[in-house]
Amino acid sequence: MAAVPFLPKNAPFTVEDINLLNELVARSTPLQRSWLSGFLAGLDAAQAQAGAQPAAPPRARVPMTILYASESGNCESLALKAKKIAQKHNFDAKVFDMADVDVSVLTKTKHLLIYAATWGEGDPPQRADDFYKALMSDAAPKLDGVTFAVLALGDTSYVNFCMTGRLIDERLEALGGKRGFDRQDLDLDFAKQAADWTEKTLAKLAPADAPAGSNTVVHVDFKGAIPDLDPSEPEFTAENPLQAEISALVNLNGTGSSRETWHVELAFDNPAFVYNPGDAIGVLPDNDPAVVAELLDAVGLSGDTGLAQKLTNEFDITALTRPAVAAYAKLTGRADVEKISQGDAFTAYAEDRQLVDLFVDHREKLQPDQLVKLLRPLPGRLYSVASSPAAHPGEAHLTIGAVRWNRGDVKRKGVTSTYFADRRKPGDTARIYVKPNRHFRLPEDGNRKIVMIGAGTGIAPYRGFIEQRAEAGATGESWLFFGERNFTYDFLYQLEWQDFLAAKNLSRIDVAFSRDQPEKIYVQHRLWQQRADLQKWIEDGAHLYVCGDEKGMAKDVDATLVKILAETAKGDEEAGRAKLKELAKAGRYQRDVY
Ligand SMILES: Cc1cc2nc3c(=O)[nH]c(=O)nc-3n(C[C@H](O)[C@H](O)[C@H](O)COP(=O)(O)OP(=O)(O)OC[C@H]3O[C@@H](n4cnc5c(N)ncnc54)[C@H](O)[C@@H]3O)c2cc1C
Ligand SMILES: Cc1cc2nc3c(=O)[nH]c(=O)nc-3n(C[C@H](O)[C@H](O)[C@H](O)COP(=O)(O)O)c2cc1C
Repeated sequence: MAAVPFLPKNAPFTVEDINLLNELVARSTPLQRSWLSGFLAGLDAAQAQAGAQPAAPPRARVPMTILYASESGNCESLALKAKKIAQKHNFDAKVFDMADVDVSVLTKTKHLLIYAATWGEGDPPQRADDFYKALMSDAAPKLDGVTFAVLALGDTSYVNFCMTGRLIDERLEALGGKRGFDRQDLDLDFAKQAADWTEKTLAKLAPADAPAGSNTVVHVDFKGAIPDLDPSEPEFTAENPLQAEISALVNLNGTGSSRETWHVELAFDNPAFVYNPGDAIGVLPDNDPAVVAELLDAVGLSGDTGLAQKLTNEFDITALTRPAVAAYAKLTGRADVEKISQGDAFTAYAEDRQLVDLFVDHREKLQPDQLVKLLRPLPGRLYSVASSPAAHPGEAHLTIGAVRWNRGDVKRKGVTSTYFADRRKPGDTARIYVKPNRHFRLPEDGNRKIVMIGAGTGIAPYRGFIEQRAEAGATGESWLFFGERNFTYDFLYQLEWQDFLAAKNLSRIDVAFSRDQPEKIYVQHRLWQQRADLQKWIEDGAHLYVCGDEKGMAKDVDATLVKILAETAKGDEEAGRAKLKELAKAGRYQRDVY
């Protein structure tokens, strides 16, 4: 028989009591000891119940569905962070990308949290389009008994600010859902407010205390939930950028071109700055001091150098947003400005103007704090990274199209593109961060074929892709479709593509120069011309990529791909569309469009 262990000398009793208890324990039977332990436990519980501080009973873990509609990853990252916070509030939360599930997911649990971004001109992100349409259709499920909350991301410089989130929020209520927390619509500086909203919403929705012993997880069939990805931010973010050195700055277009596209090389020696081909690099620019001076002059604050510095580095003085116009109207009491903030009048006024124009056109003297209150923080701009870190350790390359336009005699320009084009030189620094894009990735299998379609600066990520595949010794064939205006001036990275072809790192290239002949030829026309081979490549498992302008190119390329796939289905356009969706679901049709 095993010896009964004795109470140690450091047990919380007097020496006499330890001896007494040891004597008692030594001569007790197992049954007596077991009875005694139960009795003592019961005694404690009864005393605790009668006492002033009952221990908090364990709570039930309640299933929750977190859904996101995201294009460039902001909502995705918020949803993944929310999952962790939900756990703290006793939820068993699963995260779904709207791209991967159908609307029946809405009825899986009684608690629903949605993060939705708006793209295009008030549209849902492309990958969430099917889900969104189904939600808005008559076939959407009833949501009686479901409590929901929606956080909408957007940009106040777009007329349809946060439209997708707003419409989803309304629709969930119309379907019988109960709004558990008010929707919040957030601008580009969403990080802190989104974190607050998530915390408050989850605290409000958190399951009420349940009786002791019910702390079991309620199991729900969560098929389709995305695997637990690490939602941790990259080391360098918009809030914590890296100072990189500009090591090269070259205009890629030939003299005489109607285009101005800058190749920018950024150098850094911090190994924590990590990116993958397909990611975007964010840049926090400085405003043009000339525009800052123009604005300060308009509001009667010229000469305030401290304020000028702040406006240069910290505030958005160019994006003309409806809320800013409305706030200026309210502050100044001007009826003419109030008129501009309304409906179509705003759209017409904002078409070719910047915020600085509002102050210049409607001059009023302001105090520094009044001015600052009208401005939003200066947002970063994203650029598809044009390099492979394997080919260029410690560097990130960008391909940036300069944005410039005239309104009569007034010259206006994009802040970041001309920050590089006009106001930076090699040796200067720039504040940068990484915006990972897990939806624009090379296939892991280097033997896979890839087809890369892009126009203008849409060429950028493909340079990174081919460099990466060359470094990795990938053997899969690769095919580039590139479009621009003129062969002579605008063939971006022409020599590099020729070298890649010669080294067999690139297998094929088809170019479309729209202005080299009387009729316009674009990349989608080349795709159509080459459709027989393209169909074969797709049958062979090729991954398709589209990068660049959404309105002018990506939509037409999408429609052409549908037509090409329809041809293999005897012209059935629905079948072509279904096939393209299937490719997208399988990660074989990926887009990086803006
Ligand atoms: C994921 C992603 C990847 C991107 N990758 C690239 C890339 O690789 N290369 C690249 O060049 N860009 C890229 N962009 C676009 C880039 O982020 C910027 O939007 C672009 O460079 C303009 O920024 P800016 O600061 O120069 O102009 P801003 O100061 O932001 O001004 C742009 C605004 O000016 C106004 N505007 C522009 N042209 C006119 C006009 N003719 N008339 C009247 N108003 C006008 C419009 O309101 C427009 O929104 C990408 C965007 C995203 C979201
Ligand atoms: C090409 C483009 C179009 C956009 N259109 C809108 C829009 O119509 N309305 C809006 O509120 N925000 C618009 N945005 C801003 C995005 O909603 C915002 O950047 C958001 O944070 C993106 O979230 P995501 O990364 O989850 O996709 C647009 C952004 C881009 C780049």
